[in-house]
Amino acid sequence: AAEREDEGVALGGGVVGDLAGFAAACWMRGVRYLQIPTSLLAMVDSSVGGKTAVDLPQGKNLVGAFHQPCAVAIDTDLLATLPERELSAGLAEVVKYGALGDAPFFAWLEQQADALLAGDPLVLAEAVRRSCEHKARVVVADETEQGERALLNFGHTFAHAIETETGYGALLHGEAVAIGMMLAARMSSELGLAPLLDAALRAALLERFRLPVAIPAELADKLDPSALLSRMRLDKKNVSGRLRLILWRRIGHAFVAEDVDSHHVLEVLTDALAGG
Ligand code: GLY
Repeated sequence: AAEREDEGVALGGGVVGDLAGFAAACWMRGVRYLQIPTSLLAMVDSSVGGKTAVDLPQGKNLVGAFHQPCAVAIDTDLLATLPERELSAGLAEVVKYGALGDAPFFAWLEQQADALLAGDPLVLAEAVRRSCEHKARVVVADETEQGERALLNFGHTFAHAIETETGYGALLHGEAVAIGMMLAARMSSELGLAPLLDAALRAALLERFRLPVAIPAELADKLDPSALLSRMRLDKKNVSGRLRLILWRRIGHAFVAEDVDSHHVLEVLTDALAGG
């Protein structure tokens, strides 16, 4: 058995990184571990920042701990053999950084979309670097998510509800995040907070990255808006039973919306499931 001085290595995608990190957080009240992410999603998001967790049938990442890795070692050459669908899923989290707080990065992604999809190693490495720098900056300022770090969950409250309700596996996490970010944009527009044009621009970029921007019909048939809302009520960002969601005002300007009216959320979910 590992001793306190031993060190774990998380070599794999997001699930492996989260699980190995959680095991390292629990074992003997915490042993050191190293993250070596092998998927784009793990490189740009889950391996950085020390969130570790496992999913429960009741909700995603419900059991977990903040436990920083001693280092994150990223070799973007590993992306050369990543399946196309996994590359696209990772690009959803890359788009997230631009959408939530970095409009120039969003514009750069639009310019470089073809190169990213073609797996251009230099462009991919640049996207990974800028994403990691963004995330590291936020995590240094707010490691345990008392404030700004919540913005990194843009689209995730919707995404986690969809992933949990569909039993984890119908969609990749990044695909669910792409849909979740569009639902958050729709809420923002319906509340009169954000122009529809920005949502359309982001949908166009996500679609270029071969990502879904609406709940696929075959899943929508099996989902119930009230059940999704109940899942959203279990989100870790909520305070005193009040729904907190990440909404936006335009590309590069996301914010934490406190005490969101659940009737609005239910309307957005009902429309989305009806194909609206
Ligand atoms: N994936 C969001 C965060 O690490 O805070």
